[in-house]
Amino acid sequence: MKPRKILFVCLGNICRSPMAEGVMLRLLREAHLENQFTVDSAGMHSYHQGELPDARMRSHAARRGYSLTHRSRPVRAADFERFDLIIGMDDSNIAALKERAASLEEVAKIRRMTDYCTLYTDADYVPDPYYGGASGFEYVINLLEDACAGLLEEIR
Ligand code: 4NP
Repeated sequence: MKPRKILFVCLGNICRSPMAEGVMLRLLREAHLENQFTVDSAGMHSYHQGELPDARMRSHAARRGYSLTHRSRPVRAADFERFDLIIGMDDSNIAALKERAASLEEVAKIRRMTDYCTLYTDADYVPDPYYGGASGFEYVINLLEDACAGLLEEIR
């Protein structure tokens, strides 16, 4: 069975994972597959719950034509049941997700975003751009566009 419900996860759910959600939704729309998939994002903590993505992330996204409207929310226990793939951005996200999973079946849904890269094959995590500059945000989008394209190939 191919995965149909995909959850992207980062720390705050205001930079990397809502960007991943935006990239994946656009790729699915372009492939006329949006009705077959559920895509969402969430964060390991709730500090930014209810907020739109970081203004810098939205601004870099907008330059490539993405409009990010997701509102930050924390990962919930029910996400591990509902979603088929739960994709973390870095080691810390993945370790925290594994701790939160309630069964081996739920652990088996956890993936690493950069494992889907076909261009940035040396990257093994999507770095947190929050405390960095503009180039960090651009690099995050480059990685996510690459990884989401690889993910789409795998699941379509
Ligand atoms: P994200 O970036 O995990 O890509 O959403 C961060 C956003 C906020 C914080 C850390 C990372 N924070 O510490 O508030």
